[in-house]
Amino acid sequence: MSFGRFYRLPMQMKSDYFKRVLIAGGLFVIMSGFGVSRTAGDSAGALRVTSPDGSVEVVFSLRRGAPHYRIDYKGRPLILPSALGFTFRNKAPLLDGFLIGSAETGSYDETWHPVWGQRSEICNKYNELRIVLSQEKSGGREMAVVFRVYDDGLGFRYEIPRQRGIEDFEIMSEKTQFAFAGDHSVWYIPADLDSYEHLYRHAPLSKVKAVATPVTMETEDGLHISVHEAALTDYPEMTLSAVWGRDLVLESNLAPWPDGVRVKGKTPLSTPWRTVQIAESAGALIESSLILNLNEPCVIEDTSFIKPMKYIGIWWGMHIGKYSFHIGPNHGATTENAKRYIDFASDHGIKGLLIEGWNTGWDRWGQKDAYSYTESYRDFDLEEVTRYAREKGVAIIGHHETGGDVPSYEEQLDAAFDLYKRVGITAIKTGYAGRIFPRGHYHHGQHMVRHYRMVVEKAAEYGFMLDVHEPIKPTGISRTYPNMMTREGVRGTEYNAWSEGNPPDHETILAFTRMLAGPLDYTPVIFDCLFDEYRPENRVRTTLAKQLALFIVLYSPIQMAADLIENYEGHPAFKFIEDAPVDWDDTMVLNGKIGDYVTIVRRSGGSYYVGSITDEKARELDVELSFLETGVEYAAKIYADAPDADWEMNPHAYEIQEVLVDSDTVLKMKLAPGGGQAISIVPAGAGE
Ligand code: NOJ
Ligand code: CA
Repeated sequence: MSFGRFYRLPMQMKSDYFKRVLIAGGLFVIMSGFGVSRTAGDSAGALRVTSPDGSVEVVFSLRRGAPHYRIDYKGRPLILPSALGFTFRNKAPLLDGFLIGSAETGSYDETWHPVWGQRSEICNKYNELRIVLSQEKSGGREMAVVFRVYDDGLGFRYEIPRQRGIEDFEIMSEKTQFAFAGDHSVWYIPADLDSYEHLYRHAPLSKVKAVATPVTMETEDGLHISVHEAALTDYPEMTLSAVWGRDLVLESNLAPWPDGVRVKGKTPLSTPWRTVQIAESAGALIESSLILNLNEPCVIEDTSFIKPMKYIGIWWGMHIGKYSFHIGPNHGATTENAKRYIDFASDHGIKGLLIEGWNTGWDRWGQKDAYSYTESYRDFDLEEVTRYAREKGVAIIGHHETGGDVPSYEEQLDAAFDLYKRVGITAIKTGYAGRIFPRGHYHHGQHMVRHYRMVVEKAAEYGFMLDVHEPIKPTGISRTYPNMMTREGVRGTEYNAWSEGNPPDHETILAFTRMLAGPLDYTPVIFDCLFDEYRPENRVRTTLAKQLALFIVLYSPIQMAADLIENYEGHPAFKFIEDAPVDWDDTMVLNGKIGDYVTIVRRSGGSYYVGSITDEKARELDVELSFLETGVEYAAKIYADAPDADWEMNPHAYEIQEVLVDSDTVLKMKLAPGGGQAISIVPAGAGE
């Protein structure tokens, strides 16, 4: 690893010099070899920094004292000059009246190894420009803007140092703007401060009002852009809103506290990174590690308790009405049923078992103080279930549904974690399904961001992995806290159980939007797509083969096979789930078009697993296996839609073919309407 030399501009640091520059202009300064310069043609004091390969360029300038940035990609404007800054309660804004105090730049190049992930090695290489601004009219108040520019995009953040006049602060708005250079095609979910569980919409940017991030766009000339944030820590989430009267400009809109303040705190403040991923193909967005790279390295010393795993659950049964969460004649979480699921997991090499509805309170869901996190229903013996699971080599995934009652959960957290620790549980699914107590707080406000982080940190101390439902969106903090394995924050499979469901194109959008933020607990692999026995009016809108493919396409290091175990028992297609890993050495996107189809190959050691999915249209895709090692013969097992398969009329028709392949092979994939294909490719002879 080399931490690049930091250079200071060869100039007097404070404003006098820049005042002269502002008046005189015309100075041309080239920084050392990595592309930082201040040029005459721009607004006064413009500073620029390029990515290591020169394709992405950021230009920072003051326009009549107001900080602006712009982004070019390969010489074409991508983001036009866009404003930066803040307004406060009871303080003058940090929006204008600035001079450049100092600017420094550096380059950074390291390779790091995540505890788990879509790849085992990540290159973190960028050039950085840090500009300290000084606000003359307010007694020289300072604010810095830091840009990290990568070949596949950039992040920038604000730093407000501790200083007289800004010790405590209440931010009323963050005025970060994104002035897009065209009326791009946008895939988005609406901004909703309590939930990301929405269907995606597709519209021209000019029609978009308020969106959650990641928001993904395609330009007219086929470039792909996704705006999100990284390292969201002690700050509310950023949504983006259209700016009234200004076409194609989105502005940061932060989730508020009940009193309308957006961010409360004390300086020094470093905001989350505002990120812009840039890619020539849609698939390259998925391959990017930008969001993780903008997070701090791992702070957990002993990560040996963190183990990616597949899991099944006493779960889908509740959603389709076979079981109840609460005690009664159809209670899912009984000791007996848990043992049945443990036996199945153990027999099929599935490491994890989630059991929901084990603790008292489900009959009072939504009320204050409903749940106990230490008292089991009387037909569920936690000690016995965990003992039996241990004997069978299965890990029980504990469950804490809060119903949004955060104060009650916080009160019980130590006791709840102590209990799980004592019985040997190492992974917990949490849930926040309901409005947040105290009322007035949003799931995505700063108060809840603090809560979610507190639970992650405490879980790390105890040695627990986490799967969070109704979470704050991922922003790459799993680099720092790799026990933060996966989360929902998506309209998942459960919607098929009790609503009009997810349309066949849903997952072909998710891969290019929500998944860019981080792992998703989508809970795929429903084999009985119709479940007529329980809910004839509801169904899954895919084929069975597509459900297998989703296990690979939608990445999660704790990945669920969600169906009832009786639907897997004796089913030949379940072999794919038994074989597939959930932690990867490499990930490549072989083809893809947002909302239409995507094919992803993931490598673990010398084996490869391919998932390919389509929307409501049947497709034939030629897939070159040139990623395979040359000269090696592989056994491919293909789980495909049968020729007459169709999500609507014939979802369960599938075929398994076994063929020998090598790096010269071109597979002709046939995907049914709403279909998919899953393939395992292992060196021939391995495992014989
Ligand atoms: C909603 C979650 O998404 C789901 O997985 C869970 O079963 C229920 N809440 C109950 O906690
Ligand atoms: Ca949910």
